[in-house]
Amino acid sequence: MKTNHPIILAISACLFASPVLLGQTYRDASAPVEDRVSDLISRMTLEEKVWQLNQAGFGNNRNINNIGEKLKHIPAEIGSLIYTDDDVTLRNAMQRKAVEDSRLGIPILFGYDVIHGFRTVYPISLAQACSWNPDLAREASRVAAREASGAGIDWTFSPMIDVARDPRWGRVAEGYGEDPYTNAIFAVGAVKGYQGDNLADEGTVAACLKHYIGYGASEGGRDYSCTDISDQAMWDTYMPPYQAGVKAGAATVMSSFNDINGIPATANRFLLTDVLKQRWNFDGFVVSDWNAVEQLVSQGIAADRAAAAAVALYAGVDMDMGSNAYGEHMVSLVESGIVSMDAIDASVARILALKFRLGLFEHPYTTEIPESQRVLLDSDRTTARRLAEESMVLLKNTDDVLPLRAGTTVALIGPMADNRGHLLGSWPGHGRDEDIVSVVDGLSQRIGNSKVLFSRGCDFEGTDTTLFAEALATAGKADVVVLCLGEKREWSGENASRASMELPGIQKKLLAALNRTGKPIVLVLTNGRPLILTDDEPYCSAIVEMWQPGIEGGNALAALLCGDVAPSGKLAMTFPRHVGQVPIYYNERPRARRDQGFYQDIPTEPLYPFAYGLSYTSFEYSDLGVEKQADGTFRATVRVTNTGSRDAAETVHWFISDPASSISRPARELKYFEKRMIPAGNSAVFVFDIDPVRDLAFVNSHGMPLFEAGAYIVSVNGQSVEINLAKQ
Ligand code: GLC
Repeated sequence: MKTNHPIILAISACLFASPVLLGQTYRDASAPVEDRVSDLISRMTLEEKVWQLNQAGFGNNRNINNIGEKLKHIPAEIGSLIYTDDDVTLRNAMQRKAVEDSRLGIPILFGYDVIHGFRTVYPISLAQACSWNPDLAREASRVAAREASGAGIDWTFSPMIDVARDPRWGRVAEGYGEDPYTNAIFAVGAVKGYQGDNLADEGTVAACLKHYIGYGASEGGRDYSCTDISDQAMWDTYMPPYQAGVKAGAATVMSSFNDINGIPATANRFLLTDVLKQRWNFDGFVVSDWNAVEQLVSQGIAADRAAAAAVALYAGVDMDMGSNAYGEHMVSLVESGIVSMDAIDASVARILALKFRLGLFEHPYTTEIPESQRVLLDSDRTTARRLAEESMVLLKNTDDVLPLRAGTTVALIGPMADNRGHLLGSWPGHGRDEDIVSVVDGLSQRIGNSKVLFSRGCDFEGTDTTLFAEALATAGKADVVVLCLGEKREWSGENASRASMELPGIQKKLLAALNRTGKPIVLVLTNGRPLILTDDEPYCSAIVEMWQPGIEGGNALAALLCGDVAPSGKLAMTFPRHVGQVPIYYNERPRARRDQGFYQDIPTEPLYPFAYGLSYTSFEYSDLGVEKQADGTFRATVRVTNTGSRDAAETVHWFISDPASSISRPARELKYFEKRMIPAGNSAVFVFDIDPVRDLAFVNSHGMPLFEAGAYIVSVNGQSVEINLAKQ
């Protein structure tokens, strides 16, 4: 209808601009999300709904474990894409195809593995846990979210919160260690760092708790294998981090590859629906791990892809990552009555709800800002350096060889000394070699090129000793050897199981040869898992576990070696003495005989236990006490005095033991920790307010809470005090 009448034009403009007047509630940003979801679903065809349940790969996929893209042509109606590039223009072009070419204009959700940084790469998560600074880790997640969202990412597949006690499993690098409480605390920090206060805000991304659940119990540390987890262990050990993450508002959860007692997580309705969605009221959506739906066939749970799709959807997997089993079979499964339309709608609703909460319908495109204005900002680098400094763990320091004295000449030796890429560890995001400060860079910058004599000594592996002679000669010219050894980044992470956790033979040979020079050796380790250092430790005057420290690793290590900062890291995962001890972790249940049953051939205790870490000063714990409060809580306090001459931070770990209960409890359970800087000669009083229900209760094998009267032991740094709970 053509008209120039101003009133008519004004009315038609209002009609067009106002979705409400047009009855398109889903386009009305002021409408409740649930109304927008139900309105949109009512307009969708079955095919359009099924596409929302699918995620495919898009961009230059460098993940060698996720190969074999099933979807050759990406339809405009696809629900989500794993976007592996950092090109905003390309991402917006794909989004424009969805918004403008599809019938309903439903935007795509772009996801990516931002595990420990996007372009500003931070220490690996296992290292972050050793910092015992979840607030700093949360800040790192916030920066990662800002960098990722600025590059067009709406959703990260992080945090990984799989409790793991088998260092043969390469993915221990990605989580927060062996303790449930530690993983829970860092899970909450990461979720809040990624998601901020409102997912619709700029600079936020949706989080994803993974890999739900029990993946860390992979048999023999072999990735993708089965797990046998008792119901009690499931509730005691593996559930707490997910419960905390869901409570913190995590937007999504990823189902894991492993089976649990014969039922794969991706086919496990009890865990995905009964527990996660119903008992915990999780209102986000579940995405499978990559190809995990199709893998139900190889796990012997489904005869073919169609059956796998039906089983996974019924279990509670809302989105199929990568296998396209949903895309290929779900329409016919509904048409044949095997899968109900209600089930489809329930999953589509969860996915659309997140898209509305992210504001994707109102702001589907990423503002294109020059990269130099949104990544690698100085403040981000500072965060990266601080987190790396606080993550490093001083394992040995005899004769106070550290910190290095001013004027010291250092022979900087080892394959890691001038390497950059391996400092990023697994899942390096879009980290680039040119962003990284290597050890040689950092140390030379800190003490001067003339004081750093570099010689590589050997390669990471192999048998070539031709560089030994030069390394030994270099050591002869120096006051101290700083020997940088460890793992290549591909030796940990996904699909990186290793039967031995020893350093490669050539590296051990170089260490032994350097030891014969008589020079003090400071061993610096870059690795993504606990290593077996039993043979190597005697050769070293000092050992620094640097982990994979991220782009500021060289600066952080230099600051620590030179005493600009005192080491404050403590282990979040036990270092075994021998691989034969695995699994070995601090919170085992008590033994039937406490003074028998030890190994006959080696000591039974680990080389370095959970929460172990040295400082450049010494701390004295005193005046441990506990007072019952009027409200029924107990206030435990301990005084910590810095008895040395250097300011340093100390983390106080508070453990609870329940020596007599209806179900045998772990000998010690971490229930609280706090890190504070204590100036030399000063002391600080640390407080743990014990809430009996939160800190003394536990769950049975059905996940039901038990709260029992009796004696409990509160312990800190080897000291303990008893509290008594009267019958309630
Ligand atoms: C991988 C990993 C998972 C990751 C996903 C997407 O196979 O198991 O952690 O988020 O696929 O890359």
